[in-house]
Amino acid sequence: MKKMIIAGNWKMNMIPSAAKTFTQEIINALRQRDNKSTVILCPPFISISAVVDSIGEMAISIGAQNCHEKPKGAYTGEISASMIADAGCTYCIVGHSERRRDFGENDTLIAEKIRVLINAKLTPIWCIGESLEERTNGKTFEIIEKQLTTTLGELKDIDCSGIIIAYEPIWAIGTGLAATPGQAQEVHEFIYTILTGYNLNLPILYGGSVTGDNAASLLSLPNVNGALVGGASLSVESFTGIIDAANKQLH
Ligand code: PGA
Repeated sequence: MKKMIIAGNWKMNMIPSAAKTFTQEIINALRQRDNKSTVILCPPFISISAVVDSIGEMAISIGAQNCHEKPKGAYTGEISASMIADAGCTYCIVGHSERRRDFGENDTLIAEKIRVLINAKLTPIWCIGESLEERTNGKTFEIIEKQLTTTLGELKDIDCSGIIIAYEPIWAIGTGLAATPGQAQEVHEFIYTILTGYNLNLPILYGGSVTGDNAASLLSLPNVNGALVGGASLSVESFTGIIDAANKQLH
Protein backbone atom coordinates (compact mmCIF):
# COMPACT_ATOMS: atom_id res chain seq x y z
CA MET A 1 0.00 0.00 0.00
CA LYS A 2 1.14 3.53 -0.82
CA LYS A 3 2.46 5.59 2.11
CA MET A 4 2.28 9.37 2.27
CA ILE A 5 4.77 11.63 4.01
CA ILE A 6 4.09 15.35 4.32
CA ALA A 7 6.99 17.34 5.75
CA GLY A 8 6.86 21.07 6.46
CA ASN A 9 10.18 22.89 6.10
CA TRP A 10 9.70 26.11 8.03
CA LYS A 11 13.15 27.40 7.02
CA MET A 12 14.16 30.49 9.08
CA ASN A 13 10.60 31.26 10.17
CA MET A 14 8.66 30.88 13.45
CA ILE A 15 10.18 32.14 16.66
CA PRO A 16 9.62 29.67 19.53
CA SER A 17 6.43 31.32 20.81
CA ALA A 18 4.90 31.37 17.32
CA ALA A 19 5.99 27.77 16.74
CA LYS A 20 4.12 26.71 19.86
CA THR A 21 0.86 28.40 18.84
CA PHE A 22 1.14 27.19 15.26
CA THR A 23 1.77 23.59 16.32
CA GLN A 24 -1.28 23.68 18.58
CA GLU A 25 -3.35 24.93 15.64
CA ILE A 26 -2.06 22.12 13.43
CA ILE A 27 -2.90 19.59 16.15
CA ASN A 28 -6.43 20.96 16.48
CA ALA A 29 -6.88 20.75 12.72
CA LEU A 30 -5.54 17.16 12.61
CA ARG A 31 -7.85 16.09 15.45
CA GLN A 32 -10.77 16.88 13.16
CA ARG A 33 -9.41 14.54 10.50
CA ASP A 34 -8.81 10.86 10.03
CA ASN A 35 -5.15 11.42 9.27
CA LYS A 36 -3.27 8.46 7.84
CA SER A 37 -0.25 10.32 6.49
CA THR A 38 3.08 10.78 8.24
CA VAL A 39 3.22 14.46 9.18
CA ILE A 40 6.63 15.96 9.95
CA LEU A 41 7.29 19.51 11.16
CA CYS A 42 10.79 20.87 10.60
CA PRO A 43 11.24 24.01 12.72
CA PRO A 44 14.44 26.01 13.11
CA PHE A 45 16.71 24.52 15.84
CA ILE A 46 15.72 27.14 18.42
CA SER A 47 12.00 26.32 18.05
CA ILE A 48 12.31 22.51 18.20
CA SER A 49 11.66 22.26 21.93
CA ALA A 50 8.53 24.47 21.66
CA VAL A 51 7.17 22.07 19.02
CA VAL A 52 8.15 18.99 21.04
CA ASP A 53 6.33 20.38 24.10
CA SER A 54 3.21 21.18 22.08
CA ILE A 55 2.90 17.83 20.38
CA GLY A 56 2.36 15.64 23.44
CA GLU A 57 0.82 12.32 22.41
CA MET A 58 -0.18 13.52 18.94
CA ALA A 59 1.21 11.46 16.08
CA ILE A 60 3.31 14.18 14.52
CA SER A 61 7.04 13.84 13.99
CA ILE A 62 9.69 16.49 14.19
CA GLY A 63 12.69 17.08 11.98
CA ALA A 64 15.62 19.47 11.99
CA GLN A 65 16.67 21.33 8.84
CA ASN A 66 20.39 20.61 8.95
CA CYS A 67 23.13 19.11 11.11
CA HIS A 68 26.91 19.27 11.36
CA GLU A 69 28.85 16.52 9.62
CA LYS A 70 30.97 15.63 12.66
CA PRO A 71 29.49 13.75 15.63
CA LYS A 72 30.86 16.25 18.19
CA GLY A 73 33.74 18.56 18.94
CA ALA A 74 35.05 22.10 18.74
CA TYR A 75 32.65 23.50 16.12
CA THR A 76 31.34 26.68 17.70
CA GLY A 77 27.76 27.45 16.82
CA GLU A 78 27.03 24.07 15.25
CA ILE A 79 24.48 21.38 16.14
CA SER A 80 25.21 17.64 16.03
CA ALA A 81 22.95 14.80 14.93
CA SER A 82 22.85 13.31 18.45
CA MET A 83 21.76 16.69 19.87
CA ILE A 84 18.94 16.78 17.32
CA ALA A 85 17.87 13.25 18.26
CA ASP A 86 18.01 13.96 21.99
CA ALA A 87 15.92 17.12 21.50
CA GLY A 88 13.07 14.95 20.21
CA CYS A 89 13.55 14.86 16.45
CA THR A 90 13.35 11.69 14.38
CA TYR A 91 14.08 13.29 10.99
CA CYS A 92 16.55 15.79 9.56
CA ILE A 93 16.58 17.53 6.19
CA VAL A 94 19.98 17.32 4.52
CA GLY A 95 21.39 18.87 1.35
CA HIS A 96 18.64 21.40 0.80
CA SER A 97 19.42 23.50 -2.27
CA GLU A 98 19.55 26.65 -0.14
CA ARG A 99 22.37 25.07 1.87
CA ARG A 100 24.11 23.85 -1.27
CA ARG A 101 23.87 27.39 -2.70
CA ASP A 102 24.49 29.54 0.39
CA PHE A 103 26.85 27.32 2.41
CA GLY A 104 28.70 25.51 -0.36
CA GLU A 105 27.43 22.05 0.63
CA ASN A 106 28.41 19.45 -1.95
CA ASP A 107 27.49 15.80 -2.50
CA THR A 108 30.46 14.53 -0.46
CA LEU A 109 29.69 16.70 2.55
CA ILE A 110 26.05 15.64 2.29
CA ALA A 111 27.19 12.00 2.48
CA GLU A 112 29.05 12.81 5.72
CA LYS A 113 25.91 14.41 7.14
CA ILE A 114 23.76 11.44 6.12
CA ARG A 115 26.26 9.16 7.85
CA VAL A 116 26.10 11.02 11.19
CA LEU A 117 22.32 11.16 10.95
CA ILE A 118 22.00 7.41 10.36
CA ASN A 119 24.45 6.74 13.20
CA ALA A 120 22.27 8.89 15.47
CA LYS A 121 19.20 6.87 14.34
CA LEU A 122 17.65 9.86 12.60
CA THR A 123 15.95 9.58 9.21
CA PRO A 124 17.63 11.84 6.65
CA ILE A 125 15.34 13.68 4.23
CA TRP A 126 17.91 14.06 1.47
CA CYS A 127 17.20 16.82 -1.06
CA ILE A 128 18.34 16.67 -4.66
CA GLY A 129 17.34 18.69 -7.68
CA GLU A 130 18.49 20.58 -10.76
CA SER A 131 18.71 24.34 -11.40
CA LEU A 132 16.76 26.09 -14.14
CA GLU A 133 19.92 26.42 -16.22
CA GLU A 134 20.64 22.70 -15.90
CA ARG A 135 17.08 21.87 -16.94
CA THR A 136 17.17 24.29 -19.86
CA ASN A 137 20.42 22.71 -21.05
CA GLY A 138 18.89 19.23 -20.94
CA LYS A 139 21.07 18.18 -18.01
CA THR A 140 18.37 17.29 -15.47
CA PHE A 141 18.90 13.53 -15.48
CA GLU A 142 22.69 13.88 -15.55
CA ILE A 143 22.62 16.16 -12.48
CA ILE A 144 20.19 13.96 -10.56
CA GLU A 145 22.27 10.88 -11.31
CA LYS A 146 25.49 12.64 -10.25
CA GLN A 147 23.97 13.85 -6.97
CA LEU A 148 22.66 10.38 -6.14
CA THR A 149 25.68 8.35 -7.20
CA THR A 150 28.31 10.67 -5.68
CA THR A 151 26.65 10.65 -2.27
CA LEU A 152 25.68 6.97 -2.31
CA GLY A 153 29.20 6.09 -3.46
CA GLU A 154 30.50 7.43 -0.13
CA LEU A 155 27.95 5.43 1.86
CA LYS A 156 28.58 1.90 0.59
CA ASP A 157 29.48 0.64 4.07
CA ILE A 158 26.31 1.83 5.78
CA ASP A 159 22.64 0.79 5.60
CA CYS A 160 20.85 3.47 3.56
CA SER A 161 17.48 1.74 3.44
CA GLY A 162 15.91 4.23 5.90
CA ILE A 163 16.61 7.40 3.90
CA ILE A 164 13.85 9.55 2.41
CA ILE A 165 14.61 11.35 -0.87
CA ALA A 166 13.12 14.74 -1.70
CA TYR A 167 13.21 15.74 -5.35
CA GLU A 168 13.19 19.54 -5.31
CA PRO A 169 13.80 21.23 -8.65
CA ILE A 170 15.52 24.48 -7.62
CA TRP A 171 13.49 26.52 -10.11
CA ALA A 172 10.30 25.41 -8.38
CA ILE A 173 11.33 26.35 -4.83
CA GLY A 174 9.55 29.43 -3.55
CA THR A 175 8.64 30.54 -7.08
CA GLY A 176 5.00 29.49 -7.21
CA LEU A 177 5.97 27.48 -10.28
CA ALA A 178 5.68 23.83 -9.27
CA ALA A 179 6.83 21.10 -11.63
CA THR A 180 4.01 19.78 -13.79
CA PRO A 181 2.89 16.25 -12.97
CA GLY A 182 4.67 15.11 -16.16
CA GLN A 183 7.96 16.78 -15.17
CA ALA A 184 7.77 15.40 -11.64
CA GLN A 185 6.85 11.88 -12.67
CA GLU A 186 9.70 11.44 -15.17
CA VAL A 187 12.32 12.52 -12.62
CA HIS A 188 10.77 10.48 -9.78
CA GLU A 189 10.76 7.44 -12.02
CA PHE A 190 14.38 8.09 -12.95
CA ILE A 191 15.37 8.40 -9.26
CA TYR A 192 13.48 5.21 -8.49
CA THR A 193 15.40 3.38 -11.23
CA ILE A 194 18.80 4.65 -10.06
CA LEU A 195 18.00 3.62 -6.49
CA THR A 196 16.98 0.16 -7.66
CA GLY A 197 20.56 -0.21 -8.91
CA TYR A 198 21.65 0.22 -5.28
CA ASN A 199 18.98 -2.22 -4.06
CA LEU A 200 17.18 0.69 -2.45
CA ASN A 201 13.44 1.28 -2.48
CA LEU A 202 13.14 4.67 -0.76
CA PRO A 203 10.16 7.02 -0.45
CA ILE A 204 10.57 9.91 -2.89
CA LEU A 205 8.92 13.21 -1.91
CA TYR A 206 8.31 16.05 -4.32
CA GLY A 207 9.17 19.59 -3.18
CA GLY A 208 8.86 23.00 -4.82
CA SER A 209 5.79 25.28 -4.60
CA VAL A 210 3.45 22.54 -3.40
CA THR A 211 0.10 24.03 -2.33
CA GLY A 212 -3.31 22.75 -1.33
CA ASP A 213 -4.36 23.37 -4.93
CA ASN A 214 -1.69 21.41 -6.80
CA ALA A 215 -1.01 18.73 -4.16
CA ALA A 216 -3.59 16.25 -5.44
CA SER A 217 -2.18 16.15 -8.97
CA LEU A 218 1.40 15.65 -7.71
CA LEU A 219 0.67 13.21 -4.89
CA SER A 220 -1.38 10.93 -7.12
CA LEU A 221 1.67 10.15 -9.30
CA PRO A 222 2.89 6.56 -8.94
CA ASN A 223 6.43 7.36 -7.79
CA VAL A 224 5.53 10.27 -5.51
CA ASN A 225 5.32 9.28 -1.84
CA GLY A 226 4.65 12.67 -0.33
CA ALA A 227 5.77 16.29 -0.30
CA LEU A 228 8.40 18.53 1.25
CA VAL A 229 6.57 21.82 1.70
CA GLY A 230 8.15 25.23 2.33
CA GLY A 231 5.97 28.34 2.12
CA ALA A 232 2.64 26.51 2.32
CA SER A 233 3.72 24.75 5.54
CA LEU A 234 3.56 28.11 7.36
CA SER A 235 -0.22 28.36 7.04
CA VAL A 236 -2.51 25.93 8.86
CA GLU A 237 -5.05 26.09 6.06
CA SER A 238 -2.67 25.36 3.20
CA PHE A 239 -0.63 22.76 5.10
CA THR A 240 -3.71 20.83 6.17
CA GLY A 241 -5.02 21.16 2.61
CA ILE A 242 -1.91 19.29 1.46
CA ILE A 243 -2.37 16.69 4.22
CA ASP A 244 -5.98 16.22 3.08
CA ALA A 245 -4.79 15.64 -0.50
CA ALA A 246 -2.30 13.06 0.80
CA ASN A 247 -4.95 11.28 2.85
CA LYS A 248 -7.21 11.05 -0.21
CA GLN A 249 -4.52 8.90 -1.80
CA LEU A 250 -4.75 6.48 1.08
CA HIS A 251 -8.51 6.03 1.50
P1 PGA B 1 8.48 25.91 -1.26
O1 PGA B 1 9.83 25.34 -0.64
O2 PGA B 1 7.37 24.94 -0.96
O3 PGA B 1 8.28 27.25 -0.59
O4 PGA B 1 8.69 26.05 -2.73
C1 PGA B 1 10.09 23.96 -0.65
C2 PGA B 1 11.42 23.69 0.02
O5 PGA B 1 12.34 24.51 -0.11
O6 PGA B 1 11.58 22.66 0.69
